[in-house]
Amino acid sequence: MLDYRDLQAMRDSSLKMQGWIRKQTFSPGHEKVLRRFSSWEVSELIFRVNQNTFRGRLAADPSLPSGEVEQDGRQRWFSLEEVNELRRKLKINRKSLMPRRPAGKRAIRVAVSNFKGGAGKSTTALHLAHAAALDGYRVLCVDFDPQATLSHSMGLSDVNEEQTVWGILARDLIHETQRMNDAAQGAETGRKPPQRRLPASIADTGLGDLRQGDFIKPTCWSTIDIVPSCANAAFVEFASAQYRHMNPDWSFFAAVSRWLDALPRDAYDMIIFDCPPAIGYQSMNAVFAADVLYIPSGPGYWEYDSTTSFIGQLSEALEDLVGFEGFPAGKSDFGKTFLDVRFILTRFEPGNDLHRAMRDAFHKVFGDRMAENPIEHTRAVEQSGRFLSSVYEIDYRDMTRETWRRARSTFDSAYAEFRDTVLVAWDKMEDEA
Ligand SMILES: Nc1ncnc2c1ncn2[C@@H]1O[C@H](COP(=O)(O)OP(=O)(O)O)[C@@H](O)[C@H]1O
Ligand SMILES: [Mg+2]
Repeated sequence: MLDYRDLQAMRDSSLKMQGWIRKQTFSPGHEKVLRRFSSWEVSELIFRVNQNTFRGRLAADPSLPSGEVEQDGRQRWFSLEEVNELRRKLKINRKSLMPRRPAGKRAIRVAVSNFKGGAGKSTTALHLAHAAALDGYRVLCVDFDPQATLSHSMGLSDVNEEQTVWGILARDLIHETQRMNDAAQGAETGRKPPQRRLPASIADTGLGDLRQGDFIKPTCWSTIDIVPSCANAAFVEFASAQYRHMNPDWSFFAAVSRWLDALPRDAYDMIIFDCPPAIGYQSMNAVFAADVLYIPSGPGYWEYDSTTSFIGQLSEALEDLVGFEGFPAGKSDFGKTFLDVRFILTRFEPGNDLHRAMRDAFHKVFGDRMAENPIEHTRAVEQSGRFLSSVYEIDYRDMTRETWRRARSTFDSAYAEFRDTVLVAWDKMEDEA
């Protein structure tokens, strides 16, 4: 017979080997680095201008970054920093290459969310983040999923739970409890107000003293930062079920939203959330903080089924929050509102009859909430392994050009549609006071 003590012993021996196994299976001592982009990619795929025009402009102006010439010949290769410098300095046909951002608004927040595992959430979030960065936007990713696929893909493997969304939640509980206690003290009631006390297991973590920026980590993309996650964040998620009882007035679902509200308006343009495949404290925080929901779904019948149950569960969870006491200054009688909700098919095979039938069904059901361009199933992504590299990171010389181009073009069209959706939503966002 085995009981929890046996499981504990297994965990202990597993923990002892954890560091070693991680080294064996993931980036053996390597830091992830971002490759350079060729003048062909920079002109035709990133800036969308004629390659000869681009080369001519570079030749005419020696003050522009000129990249590096690799041994294989004529192409120049530019770092992301150089691409961004070119974007700032070049105008083509008098048009700026800078991406559009509506004036007077904070960064827009998009949650890539579905409760189905394997729906393509992390793949979608990763590619949208990379495509947005190549489009000139400054991106913050928030990994809400303790499976930490996105964090690993972005090169962060050594993360402890205090640096994750869980840390943001616990810090928020400490701050909010303090704020409520101070407010109660300040109120002139004549008698000593009751003070809420947090147990030492929370109060003494030191999380209350962390600054906002302590949760943000740089990635090998200079214009993408991330709030990472890690496996332990799943355990603390479980533990956080008690937090609500420690301070029942705490609006636990709004912690990340409050944290994001405190970011300097100019720090980022787009904030992209990768969500866990379950409803819980972290995923509710993601949904609550989101301006836009982007819901990926695979093209099979069961995936249709579970996407339906996802929106069902989500609507129930949000309905439960309506009228919650700690709700931040509400604008709607129905609680949380979104600027847009969109569905997108992933792992779609155009030659597969079932997939095409499912695509038609999705369009029938969700109408123009359905993204026109599905993300196709691509070998390039499949082969990049468990810790994904995006097609943008893969050097096209490392595979057949046709495979790479097809993969890139499916993600490019998905991104172009995503950006249009986001820009429309962004325009609708209320200006910041
Ligand atoms: N467009 C795609 N083409 C090929 N494989 C894909 C594609 N999107 C996702 N996959 C694969 O499907 C698996 C699950 O994808 P992932 O994005 O991690 O899903 P989720 O985050 O929803 O659990 C991964 O192994 C990934 O490589
Ligand atoms: Mg995932």
